[in-house]
Amino acid sequence: MTALPTTGRSWHLVARPHGWPKPEDFALREAPVTEPGEGRVLVRNLHFSVDPYMRGRMNDVKSYVPPFKLDQPMDGGAVGEVIASADERFAVGDHVLHGLGWREYAEVPAKYATKVDASLAPLSAYLGALGMPGLTAYAGLFEVASFKEGDAVFVSGAAGAVGSQVGQLAKLRGASRVIGSAGSDEKVKHLIEDLGFDAAFNYKNGPVAEQLRAAAPDGIDVYFDNVGGDHLEAAIGSLNVHGRAAICGMIAQYNNTESTPGPRNMALIIGKRLRLQGLLVSDHAALQSQFVEEVSAWIRSGELKYSETVVEGIENGYDAFVGLLRGENTGKMIVSLTR
Ligand SMILES: NC(=O)c1ccc[n+]([C@@H]2O[C@H](COP(=O)([O-])OP(=O)(O)OC[C@H]3O[C@@H](n4cnc5c(N)ncnc54)[C@H](OP(=O)(O)O)[C@@H]3O)[C@@H](O)[C@H]2O)c1
Repeated sequence: MTALPTTGRSWHLVARPHGWPKPEDFALREAPVTEPGEGRVLVRNLHFSVDPYMRGRMNDVKSYVPPFKLDQPMDGGAVGEVIASADERFAVGDHVLHGLGWREYAEVPAKYATKVDASLAPLSAYLGALGMPGLTAYAGLFEVASFKEGDAVFVSGAAGAVGSQVGQLAKLRGASRVIGSAGSDEKVKHLIEDLGFDAAFNYKNGPVAEQLRAAAPDGIDVYFDNVGGDHLEAAIGSLNVHGRAAICGMIAQYNNTESTPGPRNMALIIGKRLRLQGLLVSDHAALQSQFVEEVSAWIRSGELKYSETVVEGIENGYDAFVGLLRGENTGKMIVSLTR
């Protein structure tokens, strides 16, 4: 057996950000690595995820996930290789998905580790297209928004991990039209030319409501909201009678320091009999195996494409996270520790 490393680094939250996170709110710290205790495995993380929901965990407020503790390693999705095991279910060399990211080495309770197969998909895909963001797209579109063949679908944050999958899933299941919004002309081009969206626009180029009306002259039946704010207001304006919205995220306001005004056209919900429903991926674990089976087949056949923006090195974890909030990613933002 090869010797275990003596120390490993992890990212700690050292101050709660007010508004946009700053470098001094975080610290990369080194600590000893020890043999795993009984029922645990020691994992060398190969990739970890930075996700928008982590911004909420940096605030000291009650939410659906507890806040990060100050001066403790942060956590989140990660995939890695077992390098020592004190649990009979795992052997050295196994690849596992688990929840102790933001660090080089993780001592993971075996019951919270899931084996993943590197021969079926690149390991990083288990953090994106075949992981939590992919399931969010799948459950949000098919279950929460009750998508049906022939629907016209609008998704915001369309070039990101969740949004890029929402648009493609809708096309694969027979949407009449799929429209996406994103924050650069390059991303808009990618949506249309690479991912098969029927129309897309750059929300920075003009009012969202006007651009959406031009892209969907016959209105939309489903809105998948990753952004909130003016996108949600525009979608309420463009939704057809009996339209549905899956409210998945509101990234436009995660760094706001003041409370955000709501859409000004809520009264339209009445006459159009709209349904706006919040979505939490953790409610949809029952769909996991159906999701992996269906989506992995579409990935293998090339019908569903996914992108990753990979930032190398644990020391760049903070930059990757802030880069995600700034829109520096196309597809899933991943931090890789493989070099
Ligand atoms: N409810 C759930 O269970 C659940 C689960 C997963 C994710 N989510 C939510 O789903 C959304 C997408 O998550 P993701 O992991 O796929 O992230 P992502 O879309 O891959 O990355 C975030 C993207 O948000 C966009 N963005 C940032 N600020 C914006 C603003 N002010 N206005 C419009 N767009 C902005 C950026 O793209 P541009 O360049 O286009 O601006 C950025 O690339 C987030 O809101 C997240 O919180 C919810």
